[in-house]
Amino acid sequence: MENDLQAIVVQAEAIIAQVASQSDWEQAKASVLGPNGSLTQAAKGIGKLSKEERPSFGQALNQAKKKVESLFKTSLEAIENHADLESLGKKIDPTLPPSPGYLGGTHPLTHVRRKIVSIFRKIGFTVAEATEVETEWFCFDALNTPEDHPARDAQDTLFFPPHSEWANVKRKTQEAHVLRTHTSSVQIRTLLKEPPPLRIIAPGRCFRRDTVDATHSANFHQTEGLYVDKMVTIRDLKGVLDFFLKELFGNQLETRLRPSFFPFTEPSFEVDLRAPSLGKLSNKWIEIMGCGMVDPEVLKLVNLDPKEWNGFAFGLGIERIAMILHGIDDIRHFYQNDQRFLNQFSNAT
Ligand code: DAH
Repeated sequence: MENDLQAIVVQAEAIIAQVASQSDWEQAKASVLGPNGSLTQAAKGIGKLSKEERPSFGQALNQAKKKVESLFKTSLEAIENHADLESLGKKIDPTLPPSPGYLGGTHPLTHVRRKIVSIFRKIGFTVAEATEVETEWFCFDALNTPEDHPARDAQDTLFFPPHSEWANVKRKTQEAHVLRTHTSSVQIRTLLKEPPPLRIIAPGRCFRRDTVDATHSANFHQTEGLYVDKMVTIRDLKGVLDFFLKELFGNQLETRLRPSFFPFTEPSFEVDLRAPSLGKLSNKWIEIMGCGMVDPEVLKLVNLDPKEWNGFAFGLGIERIAMILHGIDDIRHFYQNDQRFLNQFSNAT
């Protein structure tokens, strides 16, 4: 009888080796362990045995059952693994491009920055860049901004600690460093590097000690513009800015220059615009940027002769443009990485 059990185990191994699918497996299992299965039937033989023979048969039966069950278990795992791989596709080609799904998109600020740059490129401007950590000289002095100007106050600007407070750090100069408060410092860095005539725009990140609210952010973005040549006039300035703003907001746009003051331009202006189809802001005069003719003092500071060279400069906030363009009413939306907000612009052209 015990030999019969051994034979059943060997037979079960042979059956399992042939199994190729889950239904095969179920059939195979039934043929051994099911109510009419070979092992179940063999177990019934116990009734015919004498009292003495029963314990050892019982033991052998248990062993055989355990062995067969474990063979079936392993076989089922193999079948399931195989089915998983099958469902992933028979051959995986890792060099294929990902399936077309969500591709992401540019942030609205990146998008507006690129648009601004592409407009100015059309009229011969190139992009200039400089550091976000500036010396006080580039950020203020060289831009004709006096010692007592409010922008130079620690209440308005993020100064790095005085060097005396930087333990064990030896510096070449004692000049204070700041996080640049505007991109105007790029004017100076460019003028010291490149001889005029030149036309640059300088988009970049700026920092001020502002309390964050719907229209202020301690970290924001500007684009600076600088045009230096001979015999440049206010008419050139207005022509360039009109072209730029019309490209951005449409041909029906009107602009006006309003007298203003900036330490590094003389005369200085605020530019206002008025346009239809700006949502709530349609047909209202909106202040959009600052500009002016480069102050002769600035040219002198970078060793240019103001009798020979002159030019204009302008500066605008990228967030402000994006807010007007897209009817966004709170600057904080730009920095919160909320997909519900960002997705609205991912296909903007
Ligand atoms: N730097 C100024 C600001 O941050 C903006 C500005 C005004 C830049 C007039 C200019 C300019 O180049 O001519 O408020």
